[in-house]
Amino acid sequence: MTPSDDSTRDASGDLAGRHESIWMDTSDRTDYGALDGDLRVDTAVVGGGIAGVTTAHELVEAGQSVAVLERGRILDGTTGRTTAKVTSLHGLVYDHLIDHFGVERAQQYADANQAAIEHVADTVDDLGVDCEFGRTSAYTYVDPGGNRRGVRAEVDAARRLGLPASFVEDTDLPYDVGGAVRFDDQAYFHPRKYLLALAAEVADADGSGVFEETTVHEIDDGDPCRVDTDRGEVVADDVVIASHFPISDHALYFSRLTPKRSYVVAARLDGDAPEGLYYDPEDPYFSVRSHAGEDSLVLIGGQDHRTGHGGNTTDRYRKLEREARERFDIESIEYRWATQDYKSIDRVPFVGNAAPQTRDVYVATGFGGWGMTNGTVAGLLLADLICGRDNPWTDVYDPTRFEFGASKSDLLSHNKHAMKHLFEGYVESHPDLDLSGLAPGEAVVADDRDDPVAVYRDEDGEVHAVSAVCTHMGCLVSWNDGEESWDCPCHGSRFDVDGAVLDTPAVDDLDAVDVEYPTDR
Ligand code: FES
Repeated sequence: MTPSDDSTRDASGDLAGRHESIWMDTSDRTDYGALDGDLRVDTAVVGGGIAGVTTAHELVEAGQSVAVLERGRILDGTTGRTTAKVTSLHGLVYDHLIDHFGVERAQQYADANQAAIEHVADTVDDLGVDCEFGRTSAYTYVDPGGNRRGVRAEVDAARRLGLPASFVEDTDLPYDVGGAVRFDDQAYFHPRKYLLALAAEVADADGSGVFEETTVHEIDDGDPCRVDTDRGEVVADDVVIASHFPISDHALYFSRLTPKRSYVVAARLDGDAPEGLYYDPEDPYFSVRSHAGEDSLVLIGGQDHRTGHGGNTTDRYRKLEREARERFDIESIEYRWATQDYKSIDRVPFVGNAAPQTRDVYVATGFGGWGMTNGTVAGLLLADLICGRDNPWTDVYDPTRFEFGASKSDLLSHNKHAMKHLFEGYVESHPDLDLSGLAPGEAVVADDRDDPVAVYRDEDGEVHAVSAVCTHMGCLVSWNDGEESWDCPCHGSRFDVDGAVLDTPAVDDLDAVDVEYPTDR
């Protein structure tokens, strides 16, 4: 890691820190080859994040042959951009679960996530993985004057489920809190170092492989299943879709998952970082965890918003840094990065059979920002289902469930919102394309001969023009200046400036468009 100070602020946006995830910068990059022709395996796993890699590892341990198929590089999406809290304390969730799912299924969720922590700990031990794994307490807190009653209710609910919860008012944070739920014996780790070790075991197993730069186009749930990729066909008895948002939407997941973006800065403090994992569930949330590798480094997250609705997203980094500096004595900002999560409408992930009509296709999605444990749960649960073993957590994670009480407000607002943007994209007028005023670093959505185009002029003056129509369901994309990407406000697909898919559900890239641009600028 290279130390930096405020002199690293970039000239264009006065943002501090290197624009890269600390996990990506402090672990090896992968270079697995692409699929080369057709392949027959027991199980195909689509997506190389924590859920996909954990599932594949579990299946290989059970003696299966597995192919992990990843469009880009494994562990380079949300798993490489998390704050990596390995905890079963997910904000204020257990009181909600007992109310809306009942005690039995709330118990399943609690047990599953506690088991995930222990599974990670055991795997680190068994494989001897050097991934900075350690034990600590996790806290969900509110500011003074905040929702203490909600914190008390969460402690009661968690204790009822046998979780290691207590109510506290003192923490290691350098500012006062109004009260906190504390869970003991939780954990942290370096997510990429841990999962790279699991992926290596999958890649080395007989008949198995990890295949990067391999794009899946279609999944046929037959007997056997067929997975069509740009590099060949994979035939498998079972298929797991762990592509963050399911690339093959068998059960209207687009209407049940809300995409969220959030921001992280890694800050070097003048002094030691506080011990513990912290989360303030206010809107926007505020999250803190020390970085195990260095005593004075702390990861601070927050400023979340619905994808495609961040406004000026460089401002999100500024606000987060400002908030961090108000609360901590910061020497320098070392890194900054953004990430994307999908939250299910009832706050529980979808893990299991992908749809009532599919028999051998499974899904894992909607971890809601708590992917380190829920992604591990997904791996354990799906491996059990595929191997024909009983699993005690299937009911609560069942993707075909519909808990109206738990989901009605999010269900209505999410879909109303998506429909509004789909409609507005077609009835709202856009300016006619006029590139003469487009300065370096600027972007615009405009009409070019009646077709909406998304145009970005980079800092070197080169113009990048693509169709502004999202290839998922046709909403118009909007500019994300913080990440220099085109983001869809409907269901969260993201594209780079040349139209390549960065985040699903879209599978196809945006078409390139020829536009004329004055060369004398
Ligand atoms: Fe669904 Fe763009 S992500 S329309």
